[in-house]
Formats: sequence, C-alpha cells, structure tokens
Amino acid sequence: MKLKRPATPLSVNGDRVCAEIQELSQFMDGEPPGVTRVVFTEADRQARAWLRAKCVNSGLVTREDGVGNFFARWVGSEANTAAVGTGSHCDAIPNSGVYDGTVGVLGGLEAIRTLQESGFKPRRSIELLMFTSEEPTRFGIGCLGSRLLSGRADIGSIDRLLDGEEMSVREAARQSGFNGDLENVCLSSNYYSHFVELHIEQGPVLECESIPIGVVTAIAAPAALRIMFKGEGGHAGTVLMSGRHDALTAAAELALEVERAGRESESADTVATTGVFRPFPGAVNSIPSQCLLEIDVRDTSEKSRNRAVDRIVSFAHQVAGERGVDVLVETINSDPPAVCDTSVVEAVQASASAESLATLDLVSRAYHDSLFMATLTRTGMIFIPCRNGISHRPEEYATPEHICGGVAVLARTLAALSLSEEEA
Ligand code: GLV
Ligand code: MN
Ligand code: MN
Repeated sequence: MKLKRPATPLSVNGDRVCAEIQELSQFMDGEPPGVTRVVFTEADRQARAWLRAKCVNSGLVTREDGVGNFFARWVGSEANTAAVGTGSHCDAIPNSGVYDGTVGVLGGLEAIRTLQESGFKPRRSIELLMFTSEEPTRFGIGCLGSRLLSGRADIGSIDRLLDGEEMSVREAARQSGFNGDLENVCLSSNYYSHFVELHIEQGPVLECESIPIGVVTAIAAPAALRIMFKGEGGHAGTVLMSGRHDALTAAAELALEVERAGRESESADTVATTGVFRPFPGAVNSIPSQCLLEIDVRDTSEKSRNRAVDRIVSFAHQVAGERGVDVLVETINSDPPAVCDTSVVEAVQASASAESLATLDLVSRAYHDSLFMATLTRTGMIFIPCRNGISHRPEEYATPEHICGGVAVLARTLAALSLSEEEA
C-alpha cells in the first residue's frame, strides 16, 4: 500500500491541546501565577505520570532512560527504520511561564493525535520526547537529558555536578525512580532520521512582523560559568574597612564586568548575564565570607562568545588579586552553535505553505534540546510568536491560534519526514 500525506488543511483540536497546557501548569513547585517545575521534584514526577497516561491513551509505546528522558512512540509500518523525533521539555525555571517547552511536548502529542485522527499512517515511527532538565535550575547545566542522549556530555563532569543539597544527578534520578545509568542514555546515530522541535519564540520578532511561523536556521552558542569568591567573614561592626576581604564586593565588581563584557562586545549578538548571586552567610551584620555567581554568556558566533567569556574569567582573577580574596572558576558548559538541517528546514517551509501560514527564517538566541539533537541527527525547529516576546516570566503567553498553527505545521512536517526515504 502506498502511504499518503495527510489532506490539507489539518484539523488540530485546539481546545484539547490548550486545555492540556493549562492542566500541566497545575503541577508546580511554587505558588501561582509563576510556574516553577524543577527536575526530579514531586511536581516533576506528577507531570511525568500525567503525560505518560496521556501518551498511553493515544496508543503510544512509552519508555524512559536512566536519566528520565521520556519517549512515546507511534509505531510506523516500517518499525525497524530510523524514527522521526519531536518534543521538548516540561521543566520550568523559578517563577516562569506556562508555555516554554510545554508547547513542544504537548504540541508534539497533539501533532501525533492530529495525524492519527486524519487517517495518516506513518512509515517511519514518530516518537515524542520529553527531555530531562533542559533548564539548568537544579544542576547548573542546561539540556542535561539531550546532552547525554546525543553523547555530548562528559559523564565524569556530569557526575561532579551537585544540586544545592549536594545531591548528584544519578542520586536525584534514582530517587525519582530512574536507575541513574548515565552511560547507557546515549542513542546510536541511526536511531532517528530527523528531529523537529516546536517552541515559542521567546523573543519579539514574529509578533512584530505578524508572522505565525518561524523557521529556525541556527541556534546560538551558550556558555555558563560558576564562580566562587572566598574572602574573610567577620563582624560588620568591629572589622575596620582597611582590614576587609569581602567576598561579595569582589563578586559585585565581577557582575558589573559581566554586563560590560556583553555591552562592549564587538558583536551586537553577545549577551552576558549574572543570574545567580549568592552571598554567604547572608546576615546584615556579617561580612560576606563567600559569594557564588552563575553567569550565562551567549552569541551566535562562538568566537565572540569565547572572547566575552575570556574577558570575564580574567577579570575574576584580577579582582580577586586586588581584593585579597580567593576565586574558583568553573566552566559548566561551553557549547558550539547548531545549524539546522536543510531537509528539515525545507520540510517545515513546505508544511507551513500547505497550511497557508507565512514563515520567517530566524536564529534562535535561546538554547533548546535541539542544540544537542542537531549533533545526533538532522534537526530543525518551528517557532510560534509569544506575546510581547516575553518568556521566563509568568506573563509568558501564546494564543490558541498560534499554538494550533504550530501544531499543524509540526504534524505535516512529521508526516513528510516519516515518509522520507533519506537514510539516517
Ligand atoms: C533556555 O531556557 C535558555 O535559557 O535558553
Ligand atoms: Mn526556558
Ligand atoms: Mn524551552
């Protein structure tokens, strides 16, 4: 039997997917309106169980790996050929929004259900993924699950990462019911033929241009540093200013240098942020003896990103010397940018055109699991607009119309790639 592409336009059940996105947001660690869902917490476990039940209900075959990456497969007629993957993450940084990542996971599930309901029969299997800990909140590193899955993580350095309670990734995974076997998470290079991720843009371009579909062509290169200053604590009233080795003031100088490294970069695309600034012991009448900073630096050009990182690191040593404090610099990650694959980019463009939706080619300044999936297989991303370009804040919002459009384009792209004869 000749397998056929679905008829146009696809009929997406927008009420279902939008209701599910809201339902998932109820599983949270903090208090509304901000969503916080940190990996391997009770909220994360509840969200996973809820998603698994939805996938089983849709006839998908589910499994989880040692770090908790979740897979739900719609088995194709040629089950032994490389599958087409789609998906994203459900963890959410502190005080975040409802749509980051979840649109790609629940939109991916909706795309599969849309194809099922259209009567489409996949040749290659189509597999939904929910990656573990795309967000760096707990262990300081982003894309933990996809990094391991693509074989781009050094297991030794992942094992050295500890959360705020000194717990390792393996132990936290074990406590959530996964076996913590990081060595076996990596997939073979012919496991997937293609991977496509649907995501909100997290920036203002699509909304400003009134374009419903962004076709991602590349993903900017992220790096993260963890820098600890260790000085001398003491009584805020009795230690005179001339004898101080205050860890916080050294850190404060560095935080300003981070901002300068972004602002004064020769590249307009360099961004540099101190997102964590944690003095110890944190008492008003005590000189801070320690201060921890976590710093995020990105650029579409790896060279410019590295130049900014080098400037920050060398300033950290300089300020430590000037102030007589110790400094410990740890590079958590320093990743190259990703280029999206032409075959996926073209499939997304053709699918949008079949759905009568206008497209714009874009570079993703945010990172995504696709950054690592691109090292494993042909990868691309579909962006939809979000209100005022806001993300990582409770105000994050995407309209049902844009979500439905993104799901329709994703579904059609998955169908086309499932029928594709390209070798993995
Ligand atoms: C992803 O959440 C990012 O920080 O880009
Ligand atoms: Mn995010
Ligand atoms: Mn995301």
